[in-house]
Amino acid sequence: MCGIVGYVGDRQAFPILIGGLEKLEYRGYDSAGVCILKPAAPGGRQGSFSVIKSEGRVSRLKALASGKDTAGCCGIAHTRWATHGDPCTANAHPHVSMSGELAIVHNGIIENYQIIKEQLLERGYVFKSDTDTEVLVQLIDYYYKSNGHELVDAVRRALNRCFGAYAIAVTEREDPQHIVVARKASPLVIGIGADRSEYFIASDATPMIEYTRQVVYVDDEDIADIRPGKDIQMTTLVGDKASVTVHEVDMDISRLSKGGYPHFMLKEIFEQPDCLRDCMRGRVILGEKEEENRIVLSALRDCHDRLVNAKNIIIVACGTSWHAGLIGKQLIEQLCRRRVDVEYASEFRYRNPVIEPDDIVIAISQSGETADTLAAIELAKRAGALVFGIVNAVGSSIARESDTGIYIHVGPELGVASTKAFTGQVAVLVMLALALGLELGTLDKKEYCRMTGELAAIPDKMKKALQTNDYIKDLAKIYTYANNFLYLGRGYNYPVALEGALKLKEISYIHAEGYPAAEMKHGPIALVDANMPIVFLATHHQLYQKVISNMKEVQARNGRILAIVTEGDEEVKSIARDIVEVPPTPALLSPLINVLPLQLLAYHIAVLKGLDVDMPRNLAKSVTVE
Ligand code: G6P
Repeated sequence: MCGIVGYVGDRQAFPILIGGLEKLEYRGYDSAGVCILKPAAPGGRQGSFSVIKSEGRVSRLKALASGKDTAGCCGIAHTRWATHGDPCTANAHPHVSMSGELAIVHNGIIENYQIIKEQLLERGYVFKSDTDTEVLVQLIDYYYKSNGHELVDAVRRALNRCFGAYAIAVTEREDPQHIVVARKASPLVIGIGADRSEYFIASDATPMIEYTRQVVYVDDEDIADIRPGKDIQMTTLVGDKASVTVHEVDMDISRLSKGGYPHFMLKEIFEQPDCLRDCMRGRVILGEKEEENRIVLSALRDCHDRLVNAKNIIIVACGTSWHAGLIGKQLIEQLCRRRVDVEYASEFRYRNPVIEPDDIVIAISQSGETADTLAAIELAKRAGALVFGIVNAVGSSIARESDTGIYIHVGPELGVASTKAFTGQVAVLVMLALALGLELGTLDKKEYCRMTGELAAIPDKMKKALQTNDYIKDLAKIYTYANNFLYLGRGYNYPVALEGALKLKEISYIHAEGYPAAEMKHGPIALVDANMPIVFLATHHQLYQKVISNMKEVQARNGRILAIVTEGDEEVKSIARDIVEVPPTPALLSPLINVLPLQLLAYHIAVLKGLDVDMPRNLAKSVTVE
């Protein structure tokens, strides 16, 4: 939700800020803006702000800025996902205080902004936008004027009056080489240039890795005072000195470009075999003989006793990560014989759930910044449970808040619809369930070794499954007519049905529902007619014959069936209108393969409909507001 970028140093800020916004556009893209600080003219006392804002994408902002004077070595910029106020130019960030002294960009929500606004109105402040952010900059301005222009102090005093979430960057006209940033429950990273000669600010590390690998993840309720040539001065909201820990970012820069693909989503779909190899590297170890295969997870070693002794496991997540969680439940229950609940983090956090101190709460998240998942973690920690993070973004808030965990290591995911993060999450859950099952004695060693070998074979099978791309592209032409889709699966493939339906909804705006295949007759079957495409997950597993029966029920009502089947399947061929064949896989690994044709189907339908696949309307990749 919203991307923030900032720069202060000796280079021209504008190209760095625009480049950064382009990399963060996945976070929100309904309007964008930039504010450059112009140094004081010779003899002048103060610098000035040059603010350019526009509705729509960063490309529009860039076009608008061309020909304008954007020179200056310090600036802040923003790409927005609207929370308060329409996505219009007036509401776009940066916002400048009424006095013209301060400019701000903000990601998050100031929940009590209305009360503060009323107080500021009484003091004569005038507002030009409907945003909570403009209220915040006016409040900072109020303290700034009363404290002799001490920016850090003014920011601290203002933030102490705010409830909600924020990552902010504030600049002052008086000092064109100075930025103050702060965060609470919204991500913020500072990049340190060579010899501290320049600093980069962003919502995640991607905009800065072409300039520096040295980063500081700002902690919750910390405020950083940033000036080139000086160390970062970090203080807390109450004014105490806070520590600054520098991390080295290890990120492959090529993962940030489309690499010849028309969209990030297609690139990320095709990256999955390599991503799974990365995810399993050093963790899935094949011996010369099958009985020597093993899984090594440091998290299991570090928290061995707590994991082994836990009675209940609660998985919390949102969106696609929640679907991975549903698969995790089946894996852990089957292989470890432990009870697992899977919860939407947004519901869990508000319903006073039962959490015992010896429970394990597994938080699954691609971004590691989802506000609801973070809040669920906080609750779990308060109850004394062990928090186990399964996260993609290294150094993210959820990764840092977790007691232990496993990174999925699939590299940055930029397409808003999650693809490779899903398969990475499922692969981690498979590794965890296999390793824990062996440890608990609930999984036979022979089966453990066999499944470890099968897991290692998944990347090659994925490659094969992705060869259906051209065929699915043709199928998509047939299916673009539909306004509704039903996705049906059972067992491990019920969450895959949910995920397939979600992918289609997210990027093609076609209404799609995922359902357990047998449950269909308790409602959705009423929707079935000759116009209704029904996607069945019908690969060869335990419930195959049952799925065939469900398919026949649909056939009897003329539903148009598209089935994902195991290579060589003859039975489904005689029932379904269309089939997509995938390589045979054990049931518990089948989601890793079966989801691929569904990702491709959603992708091609959206492309045929002329939609913006990577930035679908109304969505954002990282949901940092609840
Ligand atoms: C947003 C994204 C989804 C994602 C969900 C949870 O809705 O568009 O792709 O699954 O948030 O995000 P997380 O980063 O916690 O996995």
